[in-house]
Amino acid sequence: MIGDKVSTLLLFGATGDLAHRMLLPALYGLHADELLPEGLRIVATARSTLDDASYRTTALKALGEHVPADFFDPKVAAAFAERLTYVALDATLPAGFSKLAEKIDPAAGLAIFLSTAPSLFEPTIAGLTSAGLTGDKVRLALEKPLGSDLASSREINDAVAAAFPEERTFRIDHYLGKETVQNLLALRFANSMFEPLWNSAHIDHVQISVAETVGLEGRTGYYDGAGALRDMVQNHMLQLLALVAMEPPADFDATEVRDEKVKVLRALRPITAADVGRHVVIGQYGAGTIEGEAVGGYADELGQASTTETFVALKAQVDNWRWAGVPFYLRTGKRLPERKTEIYIQFKCVPHSIFAKRGARTKANKLVISIQPDENIEFRVMAKTPGLDRDGLRLREVPLDIGLANAFADHRRRIAYERLLLDLIEGDPTLFVRRDEVEAQWQWIDGVRAAWTEAGLKPQRYSAGSWGPSAAEELTRCNGVEWHD
Ligand code: BG6
Repeated sequence: MIGDKVSTLLLFGATGDLAHRMLLPALYGLHADELLPEGLRIVATARSTLDDASYRTTALKALGEHVPADFFDPKVAAAFAERLTYVALDATLPAGFSKLAEKIDPAAGLAIFLSTAPSLFEPTIAGLTSAGLTGDKVRLALEKPLGSDLASSREINDAVAAAFPEERTFRIDHYLGKETVQNLLALRFANSMFEPLWNSAHIDHVQISVAETVGLEGRTGYYDGAGALRDMVQNHMLQLLALVAMEPPADFDATEVRDEKVKVLRALRPITAADVGRHVVIGQYGAGTIEGEAVGGYADELGQASTTETFVALKAQVDNWRWAGVPFYLRTGKRLPERKTEIYIQFKCVPHSIFAKRGARTKANKLVISIQPDENIEFRVMAKTPGLDRDGLRLREVPLDIGLANAFADHRRRIAYERLLLDLIEGDPTLFVRRDEVEAQWQWIDGVRAAWTEAGLKPQRYSAGSWGPSAAEELTRCNGVEWHD
């Protein structure tokens, strides 16, 4: 399902934080590895009044700051900068778009990347349409947040659909661009040993954790209106859950993969006001210590009191044949003790232990898929402790460990946006989120929020540097499960 390569990449929000930290370094990486189409022009736009030369200077500065030093080559960067041109544009004013259109030939293939506030999506699409910058050879990529609930997400999707059909709409969830996330598919579907066990007969529960040490990072306007559930669970965590839980697609292809993911998202059991108290814990960090450094609380950073949650832990259920009765515990938060994204799969214990009478205890097997910062797959199995066993037989859990960074030491670690930008330029939507997925995600999330509003759930205080409110421990413990910290 790969389309034609485009000849122009048009970047909205080109002076923003994402462009500086991720998009320009990703494009530099692709350029350095000679993966960008020859002659691809990158037209950058933003509101600031800059000319080509000053934008190139800004871009080179961003590359110097954000590209790893051992990969940064000033000569390559200078050649990359030649691809950049800049057009100042206020997306709320239609007039500027005709100036943009003078610089671009959409018939030669155009990929547009909107890395702007969502309030600008609709005027930007209207401007592009009136300037003739849509059409068969034009694709559109959008960054989150795609709305703040199902209704606003539909509004954005409708506005997009008026100009771009679904097959040319590329909704970004940068987690799908991460190598280790794609590796989850390789682990499940390129090995024969896991899939027969990948179901409720053999799996006790699944945990998905995305822990961050950072706080608000100055994103007050956006984050305080969003909160952890909408910022992280609605998109990244539900995508991870869908990849863990989906049926094997027939092909690694945009339609097949997304068809299977959306079935999982639709099978998520709604959380109601009656069970939200037992299934959801929300928290907000207070002052504390992160990596030995004292940090303020959320309200201090924000400058006012707030009921926004910076932590959420919940128990989700996928109501289908494969997963009946298997809890999926999701947990994410800011200002937690370490940065860690991990999928933890606990299998069921053996049905009968032949070692019990000799004093040995067996533990359930576990599969720990570390996504970041470590890229690791670890399978924990039981082994006999060496010895003559005169005092009884001892079993111990030992890891079968695959450090992906070592196994693939000769491969450069790429940022997620390299993959996503190249797929956009080449027209492969497999790792982008389809409309029905994003709407199924919102539908479930809206239900959770409505339930907690009805039940009057309030964020509980946790100290920065802790693993969230103590109630989060209770959420799993009442089912005999401990979080894998
Ligand atoms: C973003 C969220 O989508 O993902 C941020 O808006 C969060 O709040 C970030 O910090 C985490 O991404 P990563 O790739 O650092 O895990």
